Amino acid sequence: MDIVRDLMLVLHFVGLASLLGGFLVQMKSRTKRVEAAMFHGALTQLVTGLALVGIAEAGDADVNHMKVGLKLVVLVAITALVLVGRRKESVSTGVWGAIGGLTLVNVVIAVVV
Ligand code: HEM
Repeated sequence: MDIVRDLMLVLHFVGLASLLGGFLVQMKSRTKRVEAAMFHGALTQLVTGLALVGIAEAGDADVNHMKVGLKLVVLVAITALVLVGRRKESVSTGVWGAIGGLTLVNVVIAVVV
C-alpha cells in the first residue's frame, strides 16, 4: 500500500503543478483563459486527494479531517470556476485570479493546518 500512497502523493503534486502552472503562465497575458492544464489539474487533485484519504483510513495513519475537509471545499469552488470557464474563449481576470488564489489557499492549508 505504501507504494500506491507514494504514487498518489506524487500525482497529487503533479496535479498541483498543472493547476498552478496553468495559472502562472498567464500572468502577463492580456486575455485570461481556463487552460486544459488547469482543468486536468483540478480533477487530478480531487481524485488523488480522495485516494490519499482512503488509503490513510484503510491503514492506521491519522487523517486530519478538518484539513482535508477545508481543502475539499476550496477545491469544489476551484472546480466549479474551472468547469464554467473552460468552455469560454476567455475568462475575467477575477475568475482567473480566484482559481490561482484558491489553489494557493489550499497549499497554505496543506502546510499550516
Ligand atoms: C487544489 C487542491 C489541493 C492542493 C493544492 C493540495 C496540496 C497538497 C500538498 C502541498 C500536500 C503535501 C503536504 C501535506 O502532506 O500536507 C498535500 C497532501 C495531501 N492532500 Fe492535498 N491538496 C489539494 C486537494 C486535496 C483534496 C481535495 C484532498 C482530499 C479530499 C487532499 C488530501 C490530501 C492528503 C490526505 C494529503 C496527505 C498525504 C500524506 O501525507 O499522506 N488534498 N496536498
